[in-house]
Amino acid sequence: MKLLLTGVTGQLGTAIAELAPERGAQVVPLVRRARSGKVPFARVFPSLAGAAVTGDIRDPLLGLPDKDISELADTVDAVVNLAGDTNWAGFGRDLYAANVMGARNGYELVRELQKRSGRRILYTYASSIFVAGGALGRIAEGPLSPDRHRTAYEHSKWLAERELDLLHKPGDPDVLIARVAALLGDSRTGRTLKRNSLYLLAERWDDLPGRMLPVMRGARVDVLPRDMAAGALLDAIAGMLRAGPRAEPVFTHICAGDEAPSLRGLLETARALSPLKFGKWVRTVPASADQILWLSNNAERFLALSPAWRNSMIGLRYIGLDRVMERGRLAQLADGPLPAPGTELLARLLFDLPASVRPTAPSDSGLSRFLA
Ligand SMILES: NC(=O)c1ccc[n+]([C@@H]2O[C@H](COP(=O)([O-])OP(=O)(O)OC[C@H]3O[C@@H](n4cnc5c(N)ncnc54)[C@H](OP(=O)(O)O)[C@@H]3O)[C@@H](O)[C@H]2O)c1
Repeated sequence: MKLLLTGVTGQLGTAIAELAPERGAQVVPLVRRARSGKVPFARVFPSLAGAAVTGDIRDPLLGLPDKDISELADTVDAVVNLAGDTNWAGFGRDLYAANVMGARNGYELVRELQKRSGRRILYTYASSIFVAGGALGRIAEGPLSPDRHRTAYEHSKWLAERELDLLHKPGDPDVLIARVAALLGDSRTGRTLKRNSLYLLAERWDDLPGRMLPVMRGARVDVLPRDMAAGALLDAIAGMLRAGPRAEPVFTHICAGDEAPSLRGLLETARALSPLKFGKWVRTVPASADQILWLSNNAERFLALSPAWRNSMIGLRYIGLDRVMERGRLAQLADGPLPAPGTELLARLLFDLPASVRPTAPSDSGLSRFLA
C-alpha cells in the first residue's frame, strides 16, 4: 500500500516511517514548508526526501499544489493524517487550527483524490484515547458524547472526530479514526523523539509536592512503545483497505486495552527492577475521579505553573483514572496479535532502566546449578 503521511517527523510518524519498508508500505511524506529551528527533513529522513511533498494541514487541501494532487490521486491508497498540535497545555485557537481544521482539510483532500482518480481512497485520522475526557469503565470504539471534563487538547481531538463523523456521507471516502494511546520510545532501542507524554511522570519523580500521587484505586496506564503503536496502526489501515466500503466512519483504539498495567503494578515493577534508581519513593494516594480531573485541569488557576508543569498536571489524568479502552474493532481489523507491551518493558522505557543482565555462572560448579 502507498500512504500519504502527515506528521512523519513526529513521534508516531517516525515509527511509521521506520516500520513501513518491512511491512511493504510506501510512504509519501507531507512536510511543512517552514520548519524553523528544526533539523532539515532531508537530513533526518534521507531515504524519504525524494518522495516528499510540501504542505500544511491548516490550509485547504493540506496546501498541496494542483499538480501534486493529481499525481497523488493516481498513486496513493490512503492518506494518514498524524500531524497535529500535541501540546496538552496549548492555546485553544492553535489546537483548533491544527487538530480540527487539519482533520477536515485532510478529509477534503481525500474526497478530491477519490473524485479525480475514481478509486477508493482511505482517510485515516490519528485521534487520541484521551478524547474519553472524564469517562470511566470500559470505553467503546465509537463516537463519544460531550464531556465537561475535557481539556482544550482533548476537546480539539473530540471536535475533530465529530467533524469527520458529520462530514461523512454515503459514497464518500472511508474514514478510520484511530485513537492512539500515550506513546513511549521504541521497544527495541528505547529511542524517543521527545520526553513528553508519560515521560513527564519520570521527569517530575523527585519534585512531586508531598511526594504524593493522587490516583484512583484501580488506575491503569494505557501506553504503547511507538513501534508497537505504528505496527497496530498499519495493521488497522491494511484491514480497512481489505474490507469493503463502510457506510460510517470506523473508530478504533490503538492501545494496550485490557493489557494495560495498573499504575501501582507499573511503579512496583520499576522499583523491583532497579531499587537504587529511585532515591525517594512516591506514595499513591487514593483519590476520586472528580478530584483527579479537577486538579489536573485547574491547578494553574491557583498556582504559577511553568508550561512543563502544566503538561505534567494534565498528565495526572492519563495515569490516575480507572478505565479500559476496548479493542474489539482493532482485533477485527488487525487480523493478528494485538499489542501487548508487558509491564517490565514499559517500566524500563518510562524510567530509562537498564536492561537486565543475565547472571553468569560462578566458577564454583556446585553453585552454578542455582542460576540455571
Ligand atoms: N504522542 C502521544 O503520546 C500521542 C497520544 C495520543 C494521540 N496522539 C496523536 O497522534 C498523532 C501523532 O502524535 P505525535 O506524538 O507523533 O506528534 P508530535 O511528535 O508532536 O509531532 C507532530 C507532527 O505534526 C507535524 N505538524 C504539526 N503542525 C503541522 C502543520 N501545520 N502542518 C503539517 N505538519 C504539522 C509536525 O511537523 P514539524 O516537524 O514540522 O513540527 C510533526 O511531524 C497526533 O495527532 C496526536 O494527537 C499522540
